[in-house]
Amino acid sequence: MNSIGIAPAKIILFGEHAVVYGRAAIAVPVTQVCATVTIAPSPQSEKDNIHIQANEIHLDSEFADLEQDHPLASAIRAFQAYTGIENIPACNIEISSTIPVASGMGSGAAVSVALFRALADFLKHSLSDEEISRLTFEIEKIHHGTPSGIDNTVIAYQTPVYFIKGEAPQTFNLAYPLHIVIGDSGVASPTAITVGDVRHAWQVEPHRFEAMFDAIGEITCAARRAIEEGQMQALGQLMNDNHAILRDLGVSSPELEKLVKAARKAGALGAKLSGGGRGGNMIALAPPSKIDDIAKALSAAGARRAICTIVK
Ligand code: PMV
Repeated sequence: MNSIGIAPAKIILFGEHAVVYGRAAIAVPVTQVCATVTIAPSPQSEKDNIHIQANEIHLDSEFADLEQDHPLASAIRAFQAYTGIENIPACNIEISSTIPVASGMGSGAAVSVALFRALADFLKHSLSDEEISRLTFEIEKIHHGTPSGIDNTVIAYQTPVYFIKGEAPQTFNLAYPLHIVIGDSGVASPTAITVGDVRHAWQVEPHRFEAMFDAIGEITCAARRAIEEGQMQALGQLMNDNHAILRDLGVSSPELEKLVKAARKAGALGAKLSGGGRGGNMIALAPPSKIDDIAKALSAAGARRAICTIVK
């Protein structure tokens, strides 16, 4: 019997970058796209032979032949070290994902979570969401350098989270579902680079950057209240306010600005970049009657694709 692990993508609604510096952020899962890992036993193959295939990244290799610091090899070794399982029986591990890469949707974290879930099932070793989140965080450090931990948390728990680095994630209730249109700028932008640039700028001008992080933290806190109380107009305005500060932090781009403007013009209650920035995705809060108009406006403004998701 095959073992299957699935993990959703995520978007950050509020608080990216400031979350690295201890302020609150809100992230939600996006189930329209996902990472899937399938492990099939291969008893006919040589003892303990683990074959790994990931077509999207053109990987077709034996586990033993992967570079030491390859994120997939690191993930398998981290799983073994944590569970104490030394020998994994011969198997084929197939990894696929519909999550756009390097676009702020947590594709790396989703692959790790799906892999840990599949390995846990294959090796009959149950792992809690919290354990999967912690293991994934270790792998995120290889991708991102200094991740806050928000990606692994929201993807492992698969629920909206209010997140402060180093604290247990808080879940909360939404008064109404949120209709979010996600526009992909099509520009790949590794998070490690934008996070590194913000860190450098913060070192040069600590007071200015701390003040901007504080302002983002306050916006995130107000946004949680607006979501819990169903104040959609206010929530949209808070997205716009958060975007303006992200622009001042230096993580927007001409492509993202064009998409954000197009979404607002097409009737979005608010719009902002989401994730590391400079490329990747932006998000728009849509009144249900305007979802199609906003998606079309994003495509016309150059979005590679628009994903509509409902956050509940
Ligand atoms: O993975 P991304 O691109 O959504 O970025 C994560 C958000 C950051 O705050 C920029 C970094 C982090 O580790 O929290």
